[in-house]
Amino acid sequence: MTKKYHIHTFGCQMNVHDSEKIAGILSESDHGTTDSIEEADVIVLNTCSIRQKAEQKFYSELGRLRTVKKNNPNLKIAVAGCIAQQQGDAIFKKFPYVDFIFGPDNIDSLQTWIKGNTMQTSLKYNPGYHTKTLPMSREGRLSAWVSIMYGCDNFCAYCVVPYTRGRERSRPGRDIYDEVLSLTEQGFKEITLLGQNVNSYGKNLPEDVDFPDLLRMLHKIEGLRRIRFVTSHPRDLSEKLVSTMKDLPKICGHIHLPVQSGSDKILNLMNRGYSYKEYKNKIDMLIKSIPDIAITTDIITGFPGETEEDFQCTIKALAEIEYDGIFAFKYSKRPDTKALHLPDHVDENVKSQRLSEILKMQEVITHKINKLLEGKILEVLVEGVSETDDNKLTGRTRTNKIVNFYGDKIDTGNFVMIKILEAKLHSLYGEKV
Ligand code: 5AD
Ligand code: SF4
Repeated sequence: MTKKYHIHTFGCQMNVHDSEKIAGILSESDHGTTDSIEEADVIVLNTCSIRQKAEQKFYSELGRLRTVKKNNPNLKIAVAGCIAQQQGDAIFKKFPYVDFIFGPDNIDSLQTWIKGNTMQTSLKYNPGYHTKTLPMSREGRLSAWVSIMYGCDNFCAYCVVPYTRGRERSRPGRDIYDEVLSLTEQGFKEITLLGQNVNSYGKNLPEDVDFPDLLRMLHKIEGLRRIRFVTSHPRDLSEKLVSTMKDLPKICGHIHLPVQSGSDKILNLMNRGYSYKEYKNKIDMLIKSIPDIAITTDIITGFPGETEEDFQCTIKALAEIEYDGIFAFKYSKRPDTKALHLPDHVDENVKSQRLSEILKMQEVITHKINKLLEGKILEVLVEGVSETDDNKLTGRTRTNKIVNFYGDKIDTGNFVMIKILEAKLHSLYGEKV
C-alpha cells in the first residue's frame, strides 16, 4: 500500500460505524491507515452536530489542519458526517483547503472521489443508499455494529438528526441477515443493531416485517451469541418487542430508552409523543418481563420553558426509575430545529447547575444498583487486556456493564463466568469461577 489515510470520528455510534465504512472504502482502494496526520495522504473528519460542543471540536480540529496542508500540499482533506450535510459548501468559504464534503447518506461517493474524481461535494438525496452494502474495516473482532435503518422521522424539537440523516429508511431484512451471518463466520460473537429508532424498523419496507420479526430471524444464526440494539424510542416500544426480548436468550438484557425529561409539559414541547406516565408504564412492563434488565437513558436539562418545577419532575423520575446509567446533556441550540423558536430559553448557568445536580444524584443510584451485583456470577465476553491495568482482562456482561478481572490473555474472545467481588461506579471487579 502506497498511500495512507487518517480518520477522526466525532459523535455517536452511528458515526463510529460510518467511519468503519469510510475506512473500508479507503482500504479497498489501496490505502493503509495511520495515526499521524502529518504522514497521511487523505484525512477524513467524520463530524457530529448534535450539540454545539461537538461542532466546536470539529472546527478547531479543521483549523489545525491548515498548517498540515500547507506543509503537505498533496494532502487531501474530506469532511463527512452531520456537519458536512448541514453546512455543505459553506465549509469551503472558511476552510478553502478542504477538498471534498460528503454527507452520511453519501458515503458510497467516496469510492468515486478516491479514484481521482474532482467532485467537491456529495450531499444530495441518495435513494438507493440503504440497500447498498459497502466494504468495512471493522474496529473489533468480537463485537460488530450492524446498521438496520437510516435517518429519523421523529422530529423531536431539539434534534438536528432528521435534517442531517434524512428520512427514515429500513434496510432489507435479507441484507441484514447476510451481513450478520458473514460476521459470525468471521468469528464475531456479538452484534449491535444500529438505528435512530430501531423499534420502528420495517415501516417502509415492502415486506410485512417489524423489529421483533427481524430479531427472531437473526436469533436463528448459529455462532451468534449476543444481540444488542440502540436506540429505542419509548413511543414505539411494543409489548411484542418486550415478549420477544424475554423469549429469545441471545438478546441481551439491556435497553437504552431515552426519557429526556420527567415533565409532561416539556415532553410535549419536545414533541416526544408520550407522557411520563406512559413512559413509566413501559419501564414497568420491561421489568416485569425481564427482572434483571439494565435500563439506561438520556436526559436534557434546560430545554426552553423548563421551570424549576419541571426540573423537579425529572429529578423525581430518576429517583423513581433508578436507571443503571444515564447520559445527560445541557440543551444546546441547533440550526433548523423547532426548539430554537420556543420562548423562555433557560439561562446557561441554570442549565449547568441542573446538569450537575442530575449527574451527582445518578452517581449514587448507579453505585447502589451496581452494588446489588456483588456476589453474583455473571457471563462476561472477554474483550482483551484492560486499558488501565496490564494484568487484568476486561469484558462486558449481558447487561452491558464493564467487568475487570485477573485472568489469562488466552481467554480473550471467550465467554467466562465471573463472580462480582466489588462494584465501582463505572465498572465491576470480579474473579473467574
Ligand atoms: N441539546 C442537548 N442534547 C441533545 N440531544 C439531542 N439533541 C440535543 C440538543 N439539541 C441528546 C438527546 C439524545 C441524545 C443522543 O443527545 O438526549 O437522546
Ligand atoms: Fe450521530 Fe446525531 Fe451526531 Fe449525527 S448529529 S453524528 S446522528 S449524534
